Amino acid sequence: MNRGIEIVGLGKMLPAACVTNQQIAEQTDTSDEWIRSRSGICTRYFCKEGESQTDLAAGAAANALADAGVRAEEVGMCIVATATPEYVTPATAAVVQKRLGLPEDIPAFDLNAACTGFIYGLQLAAAMLHAGTLQHPYVLLIGAERLSGVIDPVERSTYVLFGDGAAAAVIRVSDTGRFLCRLGVRGDAEVLYGPTKEKAEPYLHMNGRAVFRFATETILSGIALLEAESGIAAGDVDYIVCHQANQRIIEHVQKKLKLPHEKFFMNLQKYGNTSAASIPLALADMKEAGLLKKGVRLFLLGFGGGLTKGAAYMEF
Ligand code: UT7
Repeated sequence: MNRGIEIVGLGKMLPAACVTNQQIAEQTDTSDEWIRSRSGICTRYFCKEGESQTDLAAGAAANALADAGVRAEEVGMCIVATATPEYVTPATAAVVQKRLGLPEDIPAFDLNAACTGFIYGLQLAAAMLHAGTLQHPYVLLIGAERLSGVIDPVERSTYVLFGDGAAAAVIRVSDTGRFLCRLGVRGDAEVLYGPTKEKAEPYLHMNGRAVFRFATETILSGIALLEAESGIAAGDVDYIVCHQANQRIIEHVQKKLKLPHEKFFMNLQKYGNTSAASIPLALADMKEAGLLKKGVRLFLLGFGGGLTKGAAYMEF
């Protein structure tokens, strides 16, 4: 078990427009029934003109700082986990530094581990906080995506699944809350990739069934790893928070492990798959719902493009 970190504030930001399955079905060859039964998704949010991935990132970060009661000048590092940055350069994190008035003597950068980005960011935050190299005591870790810009309305197998959004966590060293994290990757540019200008394919491509298999294997092996290394059984943690891609993925794992449905937090019904934003959005909604009381123990499981994977144990 690594030395601890704790999340002292959470915040989210969604685009103004909520898009129903019915509205999606007016644009592409699908139905509300198919989307609900195959994925569990009912609505998602899409940015409109004038709303950017950077706006979502900065808004979520400001809300997280307010929730934590932490001032901008107390932030020692800013990481934005994203696969859909507004610019190739500057990094979204650099623009957030300016907009929020974060100090200049901090590292601020984007991290692309696709849907596993938030868990990669947690591990980096823990390492940097414990290395003692940061000038200020808090890490601002943001997951922010504008996936509506990279999904093809004609490609119904991806268009119906994804959404835009951002959520952020304010993190500091903890003397009591334990933390354990394991990361990995199975390099693959065929099962889930894009967009790429090289191939003149401006959209995301996904072999849904192959990713489904990777997801269930990854969550199950991640949970087994966390159980072995933390000494805590999955049945004894308060919640298991998986990347919110598909209700069927989560229910497959739940049934396999014979754990109660309520142990697996889910909010994908509202937001669809928001990639790097999905796990912090789940945490922000859990906090709003009063589920993250002091001492709560969580398993976090991520999987996604890369193909990346990550598993973390955290205490609140
Ligand atoms: O964060 C990245 C992680 N991504 C994921 O976790 C995605 C993992 N995969 C999945 O969630 C599922 O594989 C999907 C939701 C993408 C697809 O569900 P599925 O049960 O694997 O469906 P399928 O791809 O096997 O397609 C079944 C049928 C096909 O028709 P036929 O060949 O049986 O006639 C598809 O053409 O459903 C059809 N189909 C659709 N029909 C209506 C595919 N997409 C749609 C759609 N609406 N949107």
